[in-house]
Amino acid sequence: MAHQLEIELKTPEQIGLMRRAGLVVADALERMRAVVAPGVSTADLDRIAEETIRAAGAVPSFKGYHGYPASICSSVNDQVVHAIPSPRQVLREGDLISIDCGADLDGWHGDAAITVAVGDVPSDVRGMVRVAEDAMWAGIAAAARGARSGKGRLTDISFAIQSSIRKAGRYGIVEGYGGHGIGTAMHQDPFVQNSGRPGKGPMLRPGIALAIEPMITRGKPRVAELDDGWTVVTVDGSVAVHVEHTMAICDDGVWVLTAHDGGRARLGDLITSREPVPAVE
Ligand code: MF3
Ligand code: CO
Repeated sequence: MAHQLEIELKTPEQIGLMRRAGLVVADALERMRAVVAPGVSTADLDRIAEETIRAAGAVPSFKGYHGYPASICSSVNDQVVHAIPSPRQVLREGDLISIDCGADLDGWHGDAAITVAVGDVPSDVRGMVRVAEDAMWAGIAAAARGARSGKGRLTDISFAIQSSIRKAGRYGIVEGYGGHGIGTAMHQDPFVQNSGRPGKGPMLRPGIALAIEPMITRGKPRVAELDDGWTVVTVDGSVAVHVEHTMAICDDGVWVLTAHDGGRARLGDLITSREPVPAVE
């Protein structure tokens, strides 16, 4: 039996607080994106993330989460998610790295991930990043439309993500991992599948905040967890892409809390006209 979902509904003020956390994550990811290059280790990236987050007066959400030892997950090539940064893992030309980062600012969380090419990467692999990003934005747009119509349900997001990926080509859609509610904790109800039929689950309504995070593979969708208890890899060894944003449903549209522009460039008029502003302390 599925458990009774407990969805934390946020007030506009609380969404403003989440926006502050989201911007810290956005800043950390932007700084890491700028330094990704051959010769840089994933531990180097982790240090940049932790410094950026702490300088903003926030705390890395990942560190200590069920014993996780770092501030980012840095998943390279066939690593899908949750790979632990290491000074021995040095990026090489042609690698593809997913960097996942979370911050807790005054008790409110932001969670986002980017996938970045290291130097020159074959155009078909580079195209996968676009496919995953488009799917993420399709999911966020579905949430916005669903909330606006008053008829949208959670799995409308899942269906939009899946449809976007299927339209783009033959990619594996990873199951068992996915998006989630977020707020006073990094992981909350509901779980957001990256595929499935629309029209199921809770209604999409103002106050709901979700992390939307599609994961796709070049080959089969099957994944496995390594003995370290964290790293998720593709079973067939194919390259994987993972991207993520935290978004909130506001009264008249959504706001992408971990995007510097709130999602305006990708969502147009699906964003809220009343931008959640960080509350004055
Ligand atoms: N953003 C990741 C997710 O939602 C969180 C990583 S959990 C950690 O799956 F423990 F690895 F930090
Ligand atoms: Co997440």
